[in-house]
Amino acid sequence: MVLVAGAAAAARGALTIGELVAFVSLQLMLIWPVQSLGWIIANGQEAATAADRIQEVLDTPPQIVDAPDALALPREAVVGRLRFERVSFRYPGASAPVLREIDLTIEPGETVALVGATGCGKSTLLSLVPRLHEVTGGRITLDGHDLRDLRLDSLRRLVGMAFEEPTLFSMSVRENLTLGRPDAGDDEVRAALALAQAEFAYDLPWGLATRVGEQGLSLSGGQRQRLALARAVLGRPALLVLDDPLSALDVHTEALVEAALRRVLRGSTALLVVHRPSTIALADRVALLAGGRITAIGRHSELLATVPAYRALLAADPPSGEPPPAASTPDGWDLVRS
Ligand SMILES: Nc1ncnc2c1ncn2[C@@H]1O[C@H](COP(=O)(O)OP(=O)(O)OP(=O)(O)O)[C@@H](O)[C@H]1O
Ligand SMILES: [Mg+2]
Repeated sequence: MVLVAGAAAAARGALTIGELVAFVSLQLMLIWPVQSLGWIIANGQEAATAADRIQEVLDTPPQIVDAPDALALPREAVVGRLRFERVSFRYPGASAPVLREIDLTIEPGETVALVGATGCGKSTLLSLVPRLHEVTGGRITLDGHDLRDLRLDSLRRLVGMAFEEPTLFSMSVRENLTLGRPDAGDDEVRAALALAQAEFAYDLPWGLATRVGEQGLSLSGGQRQRLALARAVLGRPALLVLDDPLSALDVHTEALVEAALRRVLRGSTALLVVHRPSTIALADRVALLAGGRITAIGRHSELLATVPAYRALLAADPPSGEPPPAASTPDGWDLVRS
């Protein structure tokens, strides 16, 4: 329209050709900024919302903080006796406590496996050790020191942990491994990777410098789990808390990691959550968690022989007193179940 009306006006002599050209080129220059204004406003609003959210997170005062006269325990001074003394825990806002008056002592160097039905509070119990949550009743002590009297940075340096759903941050494999131990040397990293059977990390496109996590290379569940395990055992922490560390591994890798883990567990006091009978072999004692309490504790074979609930959980045997499942004709599912 501009061109047609402009050409007509120029023909009538109302406009010079130069004025028409100037008008058209100015108009073209304006189109892009006007169009992008809408886009810029929308983006700006999104950024403002995101910035608000970041501020909210940064401004939240942590509820778990150092006591005024908290002490730092050096690694060498730690023997490693971990005691839960009538520990209770209730999530904020929850109606019932998840854990009730847990009493458990783990001797230095001992490995205790925690078993229980899904949702009974195993992960919650583990999270109390590095003080990701604060106990709401009772206390947890390490070598007689209430965990709340220790400095958080010192406590978390003493505790190596690997969670059920391992988190890798958007940075290199090496940085992910040495998050809590920036001073770790190449030898230590190599040893930790060997232990977790995670040497695949050296074969990634850029080796240990490969970026993984959200914005990097995606790793499989089992690979992430092994890196998380390597991170946990790096530098031989005094306490190890592992939440089902071998769940995503195939039987062969599991056996290799298990054998290596056995060596590390000898040097640390450890609390493991395990679901599979094969992994329980790593533990000196097994504790059965049910209804927020430890209902049985002892050696695997003892519990199997004397505690029907334990047998039911691990062996899929019905507890005595209940009828066995109705016999069915063999079909594909029977094979799968067996
Ligand atoms: N952050 C939370 N806030 C409130 N309730 C929670 C929170 N995390 C877990 N719970 C509740 O606490 C209970 C115990 O959860 P937990 O994760 O400890 O179970 P679990 O024994 O580790 O189960 P699984 O074997 O499936 O891993 C569950 O009923 C769960 O709903
Ligand atoms: Mg869990």
